[in-house]
Amino acid sequence: MISESIITIKGLTKDFPVGSGYFRALNEVNLEFGRGEFAGLIGPSGSGKTTLLNIIGSLDTPTKGEVIVLGKDISHLNSQESASLRKEKLGFIFQSYNLLPVYTVYENVEFPLLLLNLPETERKKMVMEALEWVGLTQKVKSRPSMLSGGECQRVAIARAMVKKPIIVLADEPTANLDAENSHHILRTMATLNQELNTTFIFATHDEKVISYLKRRITLADGSLVSA
Ligand SMILES: Nc1ncnc2c1ncn2[C@@H]1O[C@H](COP(=O)(O)OP(=O)(O)OP(=O)(O)O)[C@@H](O)[C@H]1O
Ligand SMILES: [Mg+2]
Repeated sequence: MISESIITIKGLTKDFPVGSGYFRALNEVNLEFGRGEFAGLIGPSGSGKTTLLNIIGSLDTPTKGEVIVLGKDISHLNSQESASLRKEKLGFIFQSYNLLPVYTVYENVEFPLLLLNLPETERKKMVMEALEWVGLTQKVKSRPSMLSGGECQRVAIARAMVKKPIIVLADEPTANLDAENSHHILRTMATLNQELNTTFIFATHDEKVISYLKRRITLADGSLVSA
């Protein structure tokens, strides 16, 4: 069910300084997402998918234009406000995992719940549920260096979804997964989407992910081709 608009993007341009000039990674992008979407940004490498997800996730700021996420203009948030938006409402699956290397699998997945000050018994229940979603309950005590690339990716997925955020931003979440694990995780995400109305926005090249999407948004050279 798609109801109220939760992300509004108007005239979004992103320039990165390069040498004495700049590189335009996003060019006048206009987009809207409703609650409960299962949408994907599709486009060749370098087309701006990660840049756009980072800006929606308030990890980066627009050069020009307006990005409203859950009623807040992310250009005008101070660092505390953007941290609080990420902490409470967003889950981010990074293209490069960003796991904490000295933490165990359990501790990595528990981390977002510590920020929310949840009691230990509740945290444990939520961590184990998230590890079940990604099939890693046997690896709770392992550290990232002891895991395969695909296992690290599944820990990153569990960490992003453990608090059942309103919006999950997933950057190439299946890049290192075999077909069986990809389908299992996509089915889990589709279930959360249906049962909790969680909004998912993917960046992906993966045909398996694309086949699950309810909406496909195509980027080319930083511009929207279709939405
Ligand atoms: N910090 C930066 N400084 C300069 N250029 C950057 C920076 N970050 C990204 N870019 C450039 O912006 C463009 C878009 O990058 P982005 O990471 O968004 O692409 P992508 O669509 O996610 O690609 P991929 O499919 O390879 O992950 C690329 O050409 C990239 O080189
Ligand atoms: Mg990318």
